[in-house]
Amino acid sequence: MKIETRAVHAGRHIDPATGAVTAPIHLSTTFERGADGEYPRGFSYSREDNPNRRALEECLAALEGGTQALCFASGLAVSNALVQGLEPGDHVVAPDDVYWGLRKVIGEVFGKWGLETTYVDMTSIDDFHAALRPNTRLVWVETPSNPLMKITDLTAIAALARGASANIITVCDGTFATPVLQHPLDCGIDMVAHSTTKYIGGHSDVVGGALITRNDNYLFERARKSQRYGGSVPSPFDCWLTLRGVDTLPWRVRAQSENAMRVAQFLKAHAGVETVHYPGLPEHPGHKIAARQMSAFGGMLSFQVRGGRETALGVAARCKLFIRATSLGGAHSLIEHRASIEGPNTRTPQNLLRMSIGLEHPDDLIEDLAQALATPPA
Ligand SMILES: Cc1ncc(COP(=O)(O)O)c(C=O)c1O
Repeated sequence: MKIETRAVHAGRHIDPATGAVTAPIHLSTTFERGADGEYPRGFSYSREDNPNRRALEECLAALEGGTQALCFASGLAVSNALVQGLEPGDHVVAPDDVYWGLRKVIGEVFGKWGLETTYVDMTSIDDFHAALRPNTRLVWVETPSNPLMKITDLTAIAALARGASANIITVCDGTFATPVLQHPLDCGIDMVAHSTTKYIGGHSDVVGGALITRNDNYLFERARKSQRYGGSVPSPFDCWLTLRGVDTLPWRVRAQSENAMRVAQFLKAHAGVETVHYPGLPEHPGHKIAARQMSAFGGMLSFQVRGGRETALGVAARCKLFIRATSLGGAHSLIEHRASIEGPNTRTPQNLLRMSIGLEHPDDLIEDLAQALATPPA
């Protein structure tokens, strides 16, 4: 079944009580036991499982081609649950430009856990190979990466990790690519993580996360315990909203990818722009790999202005249609100076602006950027 069809049907059931086509939101925290003390309908207490979360999990597993999914209260709760599943002394390999929140989870939440971590440029397969150690247990990949849009070869990483040790579990953060554009599990990656806050929810109105696996493994089972007993669960309403977003996910992501390509081409030709980071451009260092492992290049891009931090902040300040805000994947186009949100230890260039391209008409987006990039009157 094609992804547009799965996006609308997977995990959905006609409500047996009313015939409702769109599922009701089950707010009940507790579910009736049978006379024999069992739970004949499969639910007992809403932290452990509830109908809206189960529907979303079934749907996301189907979209990624996985066997099971777990939904969490946020994207970072997924990272938290996975890191929590590691033993003190285990080694993690992650990209050098990984989403900064993962560095914070590893460094600040689990700082005393005694984990060893290597941040490496995963676009270099040799550097990645050299980073693996006998105690490596988790390889975290993010492609496209945030905010530099670096592309990592998922098939090569999965094969190298598997060849190095059967104890390594590979996880791809697929937030930027979505299950519409990229299928890490088909490339041999063990699990996919998403911040469903972004494209999957799609309307900038619900925070959530998901972990999808293609095989049973101990980190997935520990993440399940962290979700159910640790309690980092999304509410039924959050699950319902996220699932509603999924209905239109394939169509939104394709339109956003087309818009982003138009914006990238405009920026590339602009004299005020030093570099455009968009994997859809042939000169992007990851273009060939992206063309192979993605079906389109996504709605995210970043660019570096000619000038420094002040010039970049000035461009963002003059935007009228692009909203200056963090996050991504919604209907509105957003622009953000990443370095200032990431703080003093950021590795992000000071002249970089990241954009989440929305569902507006691309001509209007380009017109807005053209006036924002024009030299301001003295
Ligand atoms: C690539 C990526 N992964 C994970 C996260 C964390 O997700 P959340 O904000 O839902 O916790 C983000 C948030 O921006 C992200 O961009």
